[in-house]
Amino acid sequence: MKQYAKIEARQIEERYARGWHCLGKVEEFNQQPRRLNYFGTSLVAYRGEDNQIIILDGFCPHMGADLSEGYVEGNSLRCAMHAWRWGEDGVCDDIPYAKKIPPKACIKPWPALERNGLVFVYHDPENNPPLEHEMPPVMAECDSSEWSAWQVKLIQIETNSRELIDNMSDKAHFGPVHSSEALSFKNTFDKHTCVQTMQGKSPRLAGENVLTTTATYYGPAYMITEMSGEMNGIAVESRLLVSHVPTSTESFDLRFGVMVKLIPGLDETATQEMVDSYVVLSQEAFLEDVHFWHSKARVDNPILCDGDGPITRLRRWYDQFFVNRADVPGIWDEEKSYSVDSINPIPAQKALLDEAASNK
Ligand code: FES
Ligand SMILES: [Fe+2]
Repeated sequence: MKQYAKIEARQIEERYARGWHCLGKVEEFNQQPRRLNYFGTSLVAYRGEDNQIIILDGFCPHMGADLSEGYVEGNSLRCAMHAWRWGEDGVCDDIPYAKKIPPKACIKPWPALERNGLVFVYHDPENNPPLEHEMPPVMAECDSSEWSAWQVKLIQIETNSRELIDNMSDKAHFGPVHSSEALSFKNTFDKHTCVQTMQGKSPRLAGENVLTTTATYYGPAYMITEMSGEMNGIAVESRLLVSHVPTSTESFDLRFGVMVKLIPGLDETATQEMVDSYVVLSQEAFLEDVHFWHSKARVDNPILCDGDGPITRLRRWYDQFFVNRADVPGIWDEEKSYSVDSINPIPAQKALLDEAASNK
């Protein structure tokens, strides 16, 4: 009997990755509490009187009110419904009408961090504190007048976050999807980091030149790309942010950001125009992936060929964030690299279509 390929996809477990997740730009947070529907639950985020960002569980365990409807007092948050007040450590520190605060009155405080002009929250189902070496690294560019500020776009995606992560090793999609043929391609896995180093052709982002990118995931959800390209014959250095936060197992908020190194000699208007067009071009490239995520099937058993990137290895690396810390396999303690040769470059979609047309 002839056998045909059968796609397998297991039921996705309701567990969210351990690690730092970016919640947007620092200026999006102030003393007005904000509700954040993430990790299959609700959180509340606000700045206390000392200006630090505080993130707590989003529903009051007294009778369930939405804490983002409450108001900030000092560094505490007072619930709007019966006025219980929750401290930055999550402990109830005042009930105006009670003689005694119930010892159980304590909600989860979520570790928060402001770095690189961005706000992060740390998620760990085991509630352990974050490890120092897994913090998002400081980017000197964010503190430099030689660089533009982040321009960040929020996109809601209706699929599981593994589709986004697959991109890191999916060498073969760059030609057909992004019209950007990969000339060299390497993945390096080391502890909580995964790096994709690539050189390729990209008329959109590098003109006639070679586009060089180094994209690094720091943990499961925060990626920074260092990119060298070209626009209108001028060399352009940029940094891309690709970060996501799951809302459910079948959806996530994606934040795609771009910052560009300012070009000396260009006046302010010309610089702004350059930054804006480069942002638009990079976002355009990214949205080409989004199109596929919304229509493709989940495949746990992909049939891969020798020219594909190390997708299976990448998925195992990603799995480490979905198990308890004690169960993370020791293989990730040692750096491992995989290069995929480009003897047969993968043509851009247009070249494929031209060829098909000429064969008619
Ligand atoms: S529901 Fe928050 S104080 Fe009662
Ligand atoms: Fe892509």
